[in-house]
Amino acid sequence: MIVTIDGPAGAGKSSAARQLAKRLGFHFLDTGAMYRAVVYTAIERGIDLTDADALEQVAASIDIQLTDDSVLVDGQDVTRAIRTQAITTATRYAADHPGIRARLVELQRAAAEGQDFVTEGRDQGSIVFPNAECKVFLTASERVRAERRYHDLISRGEDLTFDDVLEKQQQRDERDATRPVGALIQADDAVVLVTDGMSAEEVVDRLHDIVMQHR
Ligand code: C5P
Repeated sequence: MIVTIDGPAGAGKSSAARQLAKRLGFHFLDTGAMYRAVVYTAIERGIDLTDADALEQVAASIDIQLTDDSVLVDGQDVTRAIRTQAITTATRYAADHPGIRARLVELQRAAAEGQDFVTEGRDQGSIVFPNAECKVFLTASERVRAERRYHDLISRGEDLTFDDVLEKQQQRDERDATRPVGALIQADDAVVLVTDGMSAEEVVDRLHDIVMQHR
């Protein structure tokens, strides 16, 4: 069974999807981490992110391993390093690149082959797994999403203001919604879950109910 969870930045997809997968005994795939890993590696290698060919070369040459709670690039643990605000902002260079998207989509489909999977991102229900048995569009109001992300970044020791986070989120929403390939769209058959006012546990409970209704 494939369960897709798509939605905008800060909707709480990653943690909810991870918890849901644990509860169901399914594998979990955080596809945003793959785009982040490509850009992180390119920066580490001193590559100009606007050089589309060089960036695609990085995506084609690295080995990305995603376990349930860590991200390894060529064996190096980058789990925390790919979560900074700087990488979050720069990830658009990989996400906007059709060739890199094609490569990562291929890896995502291969990872899910023959497995029970919860996968989260922007295009999982619409493009990557159009025949998924259960699709969820997880969202929350702009302010709630920015507040969650702000508290998350502060707790990781980053120095930024709420307004910075809100502004960057608005820019990311705009890019996610308008990119020519792999834009964030709600699949026609997705169940919409708005998480304003819900605790993390309530979100997972609700997701679990939705999956059970699709089994
Ligand atoms: O979900 P996360 O914030 O980690 O995603 C990082 C970036 O990767 C997003 O801003 C989005 O632009 C991009 N992304 C994407 N397609 C996906 C997952 C993430 O374009 N399936």
